Amino acid sequence: MDNQLQGNQLQNNQLRKMGNSDLWLSPLGLGAWQFSGGKGFGSKFWKGINQEQVTEIIKISLAEGINWIDTAEAYGHGTSEQMIAQSLDTLKRQDPTFTDPYLADKWWPLARKATSIGHTISISRANLGNRIITLYQIHHPTSRSSLQKQLKEMAKLVGNNDIRYVGVSNFSAKQMRKTQAILEELGLVLVSNQVRYNLFDRRIETNGILNTAKELGIAIIAYSPLHQGLLTGKFHKEPERIKQLFWLKRIQYGFTKKNLERTKPLINTLETIANQHQATAAQVALAWLITAHGKTVFAIPGASSPAHVKGNIQAMQLQLTEQEIHQLRTASEL
Ligand SMILES: NC(=O)c1ccc[n+]([C@@H]2O[C@H](COP(=O)([O-])OP(=O)(O)OC[C@H]3O[C@@H](n4cnc5c(N)ncnc54)[C@H](OP(=O)(O)O)[C@@H]3O)[C@@H](O)[C@H]2O)c1
Repeated sequence: MDNQLQGNQLQNNQLRKMGNSDLWLSPLGLGAWQFSGGKGFGSKFWKGINQEQVTEIIKISLAEGINWIDTAEAYGHGTSEQMIAQSLDTLKRQDPTFTDPYLADKWWPLARKATSIGHTISISRANLGNRIITLYQIHHPTSRSSLQKQLKEMAKLVGNNDIRYVGVSNFSAKQMRKTQAILEELGLVLVSNQVRYNLFDRRIETNGILNTAKELGIAIIAYSPLHQGLLTGKFHKEPERIKQLFWLKRIQYGFTKKNLERTKPLINTLETIANQHQATAAQVALAWLITAHGKTVFAIPGASSPAHVKGNIQAMQLQLTEQEIHQLRTASEL
């Protein structure tokens, strides 16, 4: 098995095969939008964190068994990719036996043509210190080029060994099927669809995305698995925190007083179950995601401090009972 585990490794049997690939990944990956360096759109969503903090977050993640990181060229206009590469270089200097994690990256298609992929991949790879991109995802379904054209370019990247696998993000069930069919013609498979999925936002369970993933063997990568912090309970404890959030984040993620009230029973259930396991609400919310649908769902929590990642990562060791999974499902039917 070709895995890239570090330090206190997860047992091999805790890794899971990502979709129809030969990749064995930890159920949690590390989300890296937070490493935008205070640049671009991300800076409004996240406070900037410095290179030392990024190195610490990555070091802890890998030491505790995470073996992949999710980034995007859009995160801080390449800053996230660069910060990850710098941290991996530092960790390699500190320990020559250090092995890189797998890297998932994303191409930004909005207002762009497929012909730009060949150029943008060279920038992303340079940002990443010329490391191979294990999973390259089309960030959104909207582009100036057809899906066919974009996927042909992606296939070229596989042929050139720039990337190993193709994934998508924010694609509907119909778009997943279309992508899978085109990739099959190109001799490839669609490995994953990265979508928003968490106990507050369970739309993929009813809009066909999750069922299509299960039927076609495509992995779901759940982004915003903590609903950007809402499911940690910290906004319920200190509702005034909402006022400090960027207005678009408040709207996009429903950070309102009404939603805090509506989700109180869910947070109570998360905390009750957490107490039974000597865990935190965040750990239970993450454990639910990676357990409730067998091995289909991976989750990529983002962290803006080493303390976040230290706690969240323990979700991979948390064994929820069938009854607890059911209880959470019921409590989240808001
Ligand atoms: N494909 C896409 O379109 C897309 C969209 C969004 C995200 N993503 C990916 O998914 C990853 C994760 O999603 P996300 O960052 O949107 O949301 P998330 O993982 O649900 O939330 C991360 C945020 O929650 C807070 N948090 C995390 N652990 C905590 C803890 N233990 N205690 C208290 N607060 C905690 C932190 O907020 P503070 O920093 O405010 O403290 C952290 O930055 C991103 O990094 C990115 O890689 C992809």
